[in-house]
Amino acid sequence: MHKYNVAILRTEFDEDYRWWEKVCRLRQNKLNFQIVDLSRSDWFEQIEAGRFDGLLAIPPGLTSALKTMYDERLAIIHRTFDIPIYPSIEEVQVYENKKYLAYWLKANKIPHPATHVFYHDKDAYEFLSQSEFPVVGKMSVGASGKGVVILRNEEAAKRYVANLFAGKGGGRVTGPNWRKKGLLTRAVKKLLKPRFIMDRLRHYRLERSELQRDFVIFQEFIPHQFEWRCVRIGESFFAHKKMVKGEKASGALLKNYDNPPLELLDFVKDVTDRVGFHSLSVDLFVDTQGNYLINEMQCIFGQSDPYQMLVNGEPGRYRYADGRWVFEAGDYNQYLSFLLRIDHFIQILNQNHHESLLI
Ligand SMILES: Nc1ncnc2c1ncn2[C@@H]1O[C@H](COP(=O)(O)OP(=O)(O)O)[C@@H](O)[C@H]1O
Ligand SMILES: [Mg+2]
Repeated sequence: MHKYNVAILRTEFDEDYRWWEKVCRLRQNKLNFQIVDLSRSDWFEQIEAGRFDGLLAIPPGLTSALKTMYDERLAIIHRTFDIPIYPSIEEVQVYENKKYLAYWLKANKIPHPATHVFYHDKDAYEFLSQSEFPVVGKMSVGASGKGVVILRNEEAAKRYVANLFAGKGGGRVTGPNWRKKGLLTRAVKKLLKPRFIMDRLRHYRLERSELQRDFVIFQEFIPHQFEWRCVRIGESFFAHKKMVKGEKASGALLKNYDNPPLELLDFVKDVTDRVGFHSLSVDLFVDTQGNYLINEMQCIFGQSDPYQMLVNGEPGRYRYADGRWVFEAGDYNQYLSFLLRIDHFIQILNQNHHESLLI
């Protein structure tokens, strides 16, 4: 059995790489792993020296600056070294970049809520003067609903545009603003400095630092009670509902584990097969005519329960075999589904290895 040499491409701003680390440990009989910090300046040398068989990515979704750093470096790695990257470079590119995703969905003729990105405020105002309301305004980097506003009338929408183009930019509403807390808090913080708190603080500071300016994203408002959260990892498919709380389904963590309709799985399989996306979540709305509209595609996504789907109350996965969907009961989402991902990746590496032996 060939043992692969892989790298986990972490950044300094995201602890989630530890999930890759955990599942790599569990598969130590199949791979050796190293951790490379892609946010350091010697990233290229590290990759070059490592002579890796494959790379495990975990793109940061906190700010667009960090995401751009990751995308740029990963793109160069992809062009330079002929090795599999997991999730794929394109799956990473559409992640946490709502404007890029909108272009990409349109270019690939995938049904989605009509989305307009304006870099000229005049065009944005012009658009609003002809729009029906509500219109949805979105920040390009998502954050559990924090960057999404439902604009009920032209007045509110114009103000939104004016803010984004005023040079100040628009931010998002986020965790505790420690700058506003008193000296006492600061003193206590310095004395205790528990790592966890410092990490949270840094997280909030970065999150707040994300400002969007000089462009605006508008989206057609789709009335909905829930979003379908579908997951595809290799040939395993899952789906559950994220229920709307207030006016948003994202971030509320209100789940409903109804049996997913098989047409939904057909839709997700068709779309992802066609574009070659094999490791991601797909969030979608059902419009009033019953059409599926893709809202988000995310190669890294949260998981608040030990499973992604229940069918008749039982956790498991769907697999498409011999022309039909087969439900297989079982525990397929261990370690936030990272175990399933690493096994899928090992399968890809095996294929690659096998093909290289044939050449
Ligand atoms: N076009 C839309 N029409 C109506 N509601 C929307 C629309 N887009 C998003 N929402 C609501 O806002 C929530 C957050 O938006 P989303 O695009 O998923 O951003 P994120 O999850 O990255 O914060 C969604 O879960 C949904 O409930
Ligand atoms: Mg969302």
